[in-house]
Amino acid sequence: MKDAYGVLKKKYIRKMQDAFRRYGYSPRALTWSGAGRQNLRFFMLSRIGDMRNRSILEVGCGFADLYGYLLEQGWKGKYTGIDIVPEYLDVAREKYPGIDVRLLDLFEDELDGEFDYVFACGVFNEMIFDSADEQDAYVRKMIAKMFAVSTEGVGIDFQTSYVDFKHERGFHPPPEDIFGFCKNLSKRVAVRHDYMPYEYMVYVYKGDSIYRPKNVFTAYVDLLTEPDGEEPR
Ligand SMILES: C[S@@+](CC[C@H](N)C(=O)[O-])C[C@H]1O[C@@H](n2cnc3c(N)ncnc32)[C@H](O)[C@@H]1O
Repeated sequence: MKDAYGVLKKKYIRKMQDAFRRYGYSPRALTWSGAGRQNLRFFMLSRIGDMRNRSILEVGCGFADLYGYLLEQGWKGKYTGIDIVPEYLDVAREKYPGIDVRLLDLFEDELDGEFDYVFACGVFNEMIFDSADEQDAYVRKMIAKMFAVSTEGVGIDFQTSYVDFKHERGFHPPPEDIFGFCKNLSKRVAVRHDYMPYEYMVYVYKGDSIYRPKNVFTAYVDLLTEPDGEEPR
């Protein structure tokens, strides 16, 4: 898989570079189809939890537009972005001097450090591999790596399988499959399929302990109205 990946990755990067040469700083250079919806995706990512003063890693950060969005919202925290296309990172550095963006491939490179939240937006929209099985294995490995370096949780968006049209190399994993995989990483998983008809987002939380005997996730224990340990009659 790794050998094939090297060749496929080069092809993918070349395509992104061609798009950048053609369109410059624009969503089309990131191969987004249909501009103007990015803030909605960023809004949804930022709904994962309390992000104030938290550290964020964005995998596949592109131009680091998520960072720009968060700054506009008054966010204060530490942002790190990684991407495999150097031209995108150059734009990010120009737009946000001092930003921490790194040329790094989450799939094959080691990533040092821990981050409160780890995000990926649009990273899995296009098939890198030719076969669905290999693409699935690739995405699962990426999700697991993201989860491993996060301390609070992971937010990722996907194109849904509930569509009547797919681009030739579009990747549309069924939400049920992604949910099932993520449930093996954490007991606490949310799937949001309510903000766009053809995309969805998953949140996978690190804190998944269960408060017994109430059987609620500990993150929600403050909302309980009955005293500890006593079942309502
Ligand atoms: C559709 S663009 C989205 C960019 C940005 N997240 C945004 O929402 O504007 C997908 C990005 O993921 C990057 N990418 C794809 N595979 C990657 C990998 N294995 N490691 C790091 N970045 C990757 C691409 O180079 C590209 O910049």
